[in-house]
Amino acid sequence: GIAGPVLAIESSCDETACAILAPDGTCLAQRLISQDGHADFGGVVPEIAARAHLALLPGLVSQTLKDAAMAPEDIGFIAASTGPGLIGGLIVGTGFAKGLALALNKPFVAVNHVEAHALTARLPGLVPGGAPFPYLLLLVSGGHCQCIAVEGVGQYRKLGGTIDDAAGEAFDKVAKMLGLSWPGGPALEKLARDGNPDAIALPRPLAGRAGCDFSFSGLKTAVSQKLAPYGQTALPYRFAADLAASFQQAVADVVANRIQQAFDMMPEATLLVCAGGVAANTVLRARLEEVAASRGLRFAAPPLKLCTDNAVMVGWAALETCQEAARRGLPPPDDSTTRPRPRW
Ligand code: KG4
Ligand code: ZN
Repeated sequence: GIAGPVLAIESSCDETACAILAPDGTCLAQRLISQDGHADFGGVVPEIAARAHLALLPGLVSQTLKDAAMAPEDIGFIAASTGPGLIGGLIVGTGFAKGLALALNKPFVAVNHVEAHALTARLPGLVPGGAPFPYLLLLVSGGHCQCIAVEGVGQYRKLGGTIDDAAGEAFDKVAKMLGLSWPGGPALEKLARDGNPDAIALPRPLAGRAGCDFSFSGLKTAVSQKLAPYGQTALPYRFAADLAASFQQAVADVVANRIQQAFDMMPEATLLVCAGGVAANTVLRARLEEVAASRGLRFAAPPLKLCTDNAVMVGWAALETCQEAARRGLPPPDDSTTRPRPRW
């Protein structure tokens, strides 16, 4: 079989990251660079991101090896996110990882980025009481917005997803309308603390509907209509804060309703795991905790550093994949010919 430690690379969006994990999942070293250079454009520019990954990866990987006091030969196998994500970054990360594996004569394991988010909660010691299968995963970030039944390694059932924007995208777009800088989620949450969440009536898209799909574009439009009377004039602070708080409340209401539905679709779940950058939102977190508690279920969110894109989750997913293959008596994965899959 494949023996650790694993060296893992993440490059699917605008985080360039490398981590080295022992076979039991202990993180021996990790480095992450959140690329700057995108904020002026109000979003991630794929071409800039790919070039930055290319410039950053060699040094980052050397540094991570140095931090772990390891030589490249000490690595058992190499892993990388090979999709879904931005094709340029995926090509850079996958090509780098495969090249390293080839040069060192070590196996290469391709990791699905969403699967890595899904399995993060199972990192030993992360969630009190652990995260045994099956559990319900809510993945909410700038790029993802879905409810997934996590039934085992390699066994996932998508219960619902967004039919327009991702939750983080909605936060970012509304924040932009309010004149906040990108990424707007954290700034909007801060502004909302000074506002009244009941001050401004906003819709709750899809709430009460069957299934657990999400929609945020109607909410975004409603916010822009509330802003229309102000035209180009500066927003009164009080009004901006009320609008931010009312928007955040609407998102929390919608997500709470969708999660109730997801639990109905997955009665065997005893745990709700929330991951992705939007999981940092304290109002949303509190609501999800409430929903889980009202059903007598556990709620867990990995620490923020592991909720957002990182390489530790990629290494862990690779280790779990290898262990699962061994458990089933299957040969270890050999993904040396796998190509990046932006829409995997
Ligand atoms: O997981 P992430 O770092 O990257 C991906 O999109 O994959 O998530 C970033 C997203 C951004 O849209 C950001 O605005 C949002 O998460 N976000 C938040 C908060 N912190 C980050 N949204 C709402 N409230 C927050 N506190
Ligand atoms: Zn992600």
